[in-house]
Formats: sequence, C-alpha cells, structure tokens
Amino acid sequence: MKNSTNFAHLGRPTPDLGTAVNPDVTRASTLLFGKAEDLYRTDIRAYGRHGSTVHDAVKQCFNELENGAGTALTPSGLSAVTLAIMANVKAGDHILVTDSIYGPTRAFSEGFLNKIGVEAERFPPRIGDKITDYIKPNTSLIILESPGSLTFEIQDVPAICKVAAEKGITTIVDNTWSAGLSYKPLGLGADISVHAATKYMGGHSDIMFGAVVSRTKAMANKVAKTRKFLGLATSPDDAYQILRGFRTLTTRFWAQEKAAFELASWLTEQDFVSSVLHPALPSHPDHALWSRDFTGGACLFGVVLKPASEAQVHTLMNGLKYFGLGFSYGGYESVAIYCDPQLNRKFGDKLQGPLVRFGCGLEDIEDLKNDIEQSANKAF
Ligand SMILES: Cc1ncc(COP(=O)(O)O)c(C=O)c1O
Repeated sequence: MKNSTNFAHLGRPTPDLGTAVNPDVTRASTLLFGKAEDLYRTDIRAYGRHGSTVHDAVKQCFNELENGAGTALTPSGLSAVTLAIMANVKAGDHILVTDSIYGPTRAFSEGFLNKIGVEAERFPPRIGDKITDYIKPNTSLIILESPGSLTFEIQDVPAICKVAAEKGITTIVDNTWSAGLSYKPLGLGADISVHAATKYMGGHSDIMFGAVVSRTKAMANKVAKTRKFLGLATSPDDAYQILRGFRTLTTRFWAQEKAAFELASWLTEQDFVSSVLHPALPSHPDHALWSRDFTGGACLFGVVLKPASEAQVHTLMNGLKYFGLGFSYGGYESVAIYCDPQLNRKFGDKLQGPLVRFGCGLEDIEDLKNDIEQSANKAF
C-alpha cells in the first residue's frame, strides 16, 4: 500500500453505527483500574506518560513511513535527536557528528555530552567510506544528516553505514528534510531515522513534536527504555494534531517539493544569485549521490547570493511579503532566513556570498517568484 493510502486510514475507528471518522482524544494523566490485581500489570498502559490510542496510531504512521520496527514519540524534534543519542552512548565513548548537522544537535553533542564523559568529534559531510579514518576503538555512534542543515551537502549514507555496521557502530540520520517521503535512510543501512515532526507532519507551524524510528526491534526497545528513563511524554492533543497532519502529508509535501524545485531553478537564473544549494539541481556537487539515493527533493533549499552587504541582505529579507522570516519550515506557508550568523563549519570551502534559506509553502509559485523579484529589486 502506498504511503498516502496508509495515512488516510491508519488509526481510524471501525465504523459501527454513526461512528466518527477520526479517533477520540483521551486526555489523561491518571488511568484508573477496577481491580487492585491489575495495577502492576506490565502488558497495559498504567499512566498518562505511557501514551494513548492516538499515540499508537502516530507511531504506526512513522513505522509505515520509514519501514521501521518501532517509534518513540518526543515533545520536539530536538528531543528526538537527543533521545536517539542518549540511548546509544555511555561515559567513555567517542562519537562522530557530521559538520553539517543541525546547530542545536551540534551544541548538544559538543556542549552537553562532554559533561557525561562522551567525546564528540566532527567530520566532513562528504567523507563517504573514508569515515574509517575518524573511527577510534571507543567510537559508538555516527550522527548524519542529509542534506546538511543550511549548506545542503548530501552524505554517502550507505557507505558510512556499511563501515559503521562492520565495526558495530550505531548510525542515526536526521531525516527531517525529506519528511521520510523522498528519502528512506533505514533502507540504506541506518539504524535510526529521526524526525522533527514539528515541520511537515505538524504542517501548520503550530505544534512541536518529534519521532525516533528504529530499523530493528532491539534498537526500538533500547530507545523506548531510554525514553522511559528520561520521562519524555507528549500530550494526546499534540499527538492528534500530528495524526491529522499525516492525513494530508503526502499531498502537501509533494506540492511544496515541486514548488521549491521550480523556485530553485528560477533562482539559478537571477543576477543577484551566486549559486543555489538544492541537490536536485544538476549543478549541485552531490547531484549524482542524490539521484542514486533520493526519490525527490523537499520544500527547503539555500541560495548563496553574490557578495552583498549585510544591509542589502536585510533589505532583501525585509521586502518579502509572502515569505515569513522564521526559523522553521514544512508548514503551509513560505518562510525564509538568512543564515550567516548561525553558520558554524569546521570543514568545507567558504561560501561565495551571504546564504539565504527558503522554505516553500503552498502559495502560488508565480506569486513567490514575484515576491523575491520585487524585494531583490529593492536590495540590489
Ligand atoms: C534538521 C532538524 N532537526 C531537528 C530540528 C529540531 O526540531 P524542533 O524544532 O521540533 O525541536 C530541526 C528544527 O529546525 C531541524 O531543522
């Protein structure tokens, strides 16, 4: 069954007599038991933190999306990443983190893990199977993101995961960019795929949510156990909104993916642009890897401007009418940020000019092009 069909049907009640299309939301912290004998059963939910039927449906959606063996839900995308990491490290370990990782994941790895005796080291995103050179006897984990946050490098995930598997090292891929629709890292050998469901699954920029999807039952159990230790819980209302997001996920995602590719292609022809960082463009340095491993793009890409002053960049951003200035993406509305203040790279060439990131929403593509054009005319 295709994802779209699955997401239209998963978690819905069986029709009886006037049954609602959608499941009920059960709001609960305390769950009551009729008999004392049942209080300590381990085969049933005993408390609000253990979820609800709506949470079960959301987990099922993520398992279907990624062909996963189990999913743990978290209150944000960042907590999904940190949960996946915490489930797989112990004091004395060394972990490898791609230089192109989402900034707060880098901050957690370099600014928190060292407090518990875990050493995080960065590696160049385009390293492929040469990752071997970075592996130490105590390396336990490799954290990947493809394309990379802000700079959009594609990683050779199969090559890296193959080396990791041979050495018994766990691999985590932050798969937020593709919504799990145009990229399936678990099928390429990754152990864990992580989503900031805040983006496309929420779809309306009004909810924070995350998911950790594991390839094997053993890994899913390990993550679930750590989630329990950490006390991570999500509300039934939030879970319901994510389930609701799944109903329209594929339609929204592919419409936004198409718009982004069209906009990216158009931007390659604009005078103020130095290069466009979208892996589906043949001009992207990792286009061949992208063609091999992905079945499409996503709503998000970067644009390197020709050298310009900060004031010009601000004028460009401030003149946009349909692109809201904001740090997320995957909602129904278009967004943009300029990235230079948060670029933090150890490897790779310096960019030719300021970097702007666009996330396409569901607006008309000609309106989006006109919006950028009118603003660029004021700035350059
Ligand atoms: C690639 C990536 N991973 C994780 C996150 C964190 O998600 P959240 O904002 O839900 O914590 C983000 C948010 O921007 C992201 O872009």
